[in-house]
Amino acid sequence: MENLMQPLTISSMEMQSLSEITGFLFFLLLILLITAWSQMKSSHLPGPYFMFGLGPLLSYTRFIWTGIGTACNYYNIKYGSIVRVWISGEETLIISNSSAVYHILRSPHYTARFGSKKGLETIGMEGRGIIFNSDVLLWKKVRMYFSKALTGPGLQRTVSICVNSTTNHLNNLHEVTSPSGHVDALNLLRAIVVDISNKLFLGVPLNEKLLLMKIHNYFETWQAVLIKPDIFFKVGWLYNKHKKSAQELQDVMQNLLEVKKKIINESEKLDDDLDFATELIFAQNHGELSPENVRQCVLEMVIAAPDTLSITLFFMLMLLKQNPGVEESIIEEMKAVLGEDGAENINHQDLKVLERFINESMRFHPVVDFTMRKALEDDNINGIQIKKGTNIILNIGLMHKTEYFPLPNEFSLDNFNKPVPNRYFQPFGCGPRSCVGKHIAMVMMKAILVTLLSQYTVCPHQGCTVNSIRQTNNLSQQPVEDEQSLAMRFIPRRIIDNK
Ligand code: HEM
Ligand SMILES: *[C@@H]1O[C@H](CO)[C@@H](O)[C@H](O)[C@H]1NC(C)=O
Ligand SMILES: *[C@@H]1O[C@H](CO)[C@@H](O)[C@H](O)[C@H]1NC(C)=O
Ligand SMILES: *[C@@H]1O[C@H](CO)[C@@H](O)[C@H](O)[C@H]1NC(C)=O
Ligand SMILES: *[C@@H]1O[C@H](CO)[C@@H](O)[C@H](O)[C@H]1NC(C)=O
Ligand SMILES: *[C@@H]1O[C@H](CO)[C@@H](O)[C@H](O)[C@H]1NC(C)=O
Repeated sequence: MENLMQPLTISSMEMQSLSEITGFLFFLLLILLITAWSQMKSSHLPGPYFMFGLGPLLSYTRFIWTGIGTACNYYNIKYGSIVRVWISGEETLIISNSSAVYHILRSPHYTARFGSKKGLETIGMEGRGIIFNSDVLLWKKVRMYFSKALTGPGLQRTVSICVNSTTNHLNNLHEVTSPSGHVDALNLLRAIVVDISNKLFLGVPLNEKLLLMKIHNYFETWQAVLIKPDIFFKVGWLYNKHKKSAQELQDVMQNLLEVKKKIINESEKLDDDLDFATELIFAQNHGELSPENVRQCVLEMVIAAPDTLSITLFFMLMLLKQNPGVEESIIEEMKAVLGEDGAENINHQDLKVLERFINESMRFHPVVDFTMRKALEDDNINGIQIKKGTNIILNIGLMHKTEYFPLPNEFSLDNFNKPVPNRYFQPFGCGPRSCVGKHIAMVMMKAILVTLLSQYTVCPHQGCTVNSIRQTNNLSQQPVEDEQSLAMRFIPRRIIDNK
């Protein structure tokens, strides 16, 4: 070897230094690749490759293009129950593993959410209100007002308002029935639900139809801006329409609050239990909450049920028709349980079949399919390192179809034959940032369903099922509404008299 190396000429020395340089460059490239590789691998989580930034770009595009819910299901199905992707370049975990979901739901380290700051500012949710407020101190304060209004005594009042409002709307059914005898069931349910919310939390006279239209537009804007890149907000022709929709609902709320203030001012003496809006107005008067925050809280309380509960009920009506045996057993139970005065004095504990139906509907075809969180501290979940600041999406809908349940892909009350352990069924979430309306939502759904089903059986268009209608799974799972196929016939029935 040494002999061979010795006769070095000058030119070969130059050659050597040249190859040294290329060698060095090659080495540098290798280091770069390894760094990129190890960064990608640092979390040891499955997911699309980083590929010098192409991965983040592609996953972000998928979220915007197909909608958040659809993208989450795609990634969990492709890569497993814990996946790492990127949204706006930020590392985001999508989790459908019940053990990890349960950990996060109950932990105090995930009480913030994520979303485009400019987007949240557009809809008034940035650092205000409750739903996407990630100013944790302020969120805690605000959440107490929501908890007070949504839990505790008042439940009997909730039932009678639900029964009354449903009855009133059903009495005027002819007003919303088309010449062909069909009713736009989804909008009827929205009208019932927004009327109930107003009576429970606000208590001012309002134009239901107009308000519902503005709520609908606000929701569209919410979906459209939630994870958009900053550049979107600079392009006027894309952005202005959304900005306007968001502003319109905020203006409506401002006006309703003015009316409320007048009502409070003029009433001689206020009830012992003040409603939500009154409590907030007092908090504002005492300097506890800013006027913008109060307006946003009332807005979110008013949109919460129309955006979730009414669509959930709509899916339930369709599922009932697809499962006549289930409808029959619910009616049997109602006949056995209901008193002379109908739903007014129902005992919730006695409506077990109905509750199983409600649970199975929310499992099988949820409206709220996932929930968005942000890690506020470093954490370790079953050996997986979670860095502070990581975005998290809990894919609860998919979790309900991949773990525990005996008939995961079928609609069957057998899935709730025996008590389901908490960790496997979380339609409202649990822990500090769970759905603050989870208890009242169950009461409302029962009261509305019992009232409706004791007077009518519904009949959707033939072949129209929860799986066949066109839907989007963006911010939540919803039917596409530019179609006549969603209309239903309401056929009267009498069950209380027959008793
Ligand atoms: C079927 C009906 C409903 C479903 C399926 C539902 C589901 C959910 C879910 C999954 C969350 C996120 C929880 C989490 O991040 O862990 C949530 C949050 C929330 N829900 Fe509901 N919800 C429903 C009805 C309602 C109603 C009727 C109200 C109020 C009147 C309400 C008010 C809220 C609020 C204010 C939040 C945000 C809580 C926070 O961030 O602190 N929801 N809901
Ligand atoms: C998601 O929502 C926005 C706003 O409603 C809409 O423009 C977009 O088309 C939706 N995406 C899908 C895939 O439905
Ligand atoms: C969820 O995670 C736990 C702990 O890492 C693991 O034991 C379990 O098998 C996972 N479940 C599924 C369905 O992947
Ligand atoms: C129930 O509805 C009727 C209108 O049909 C109304 O006059 C009555 O005050 C309502 N009752 C309650 C408790 O809201
Ligand atoms: C409340 O009523 C008083 C007079 O009784 C009036 O001076 C005041 O401006 C009113 N405030 C509001 C907000 O209407
Ligand atoms: C329905 O689900 C709730 C959790 O949302 C649970 O507390 C309740 O026990 C379930 N009811 C039945 C009958 O399974």
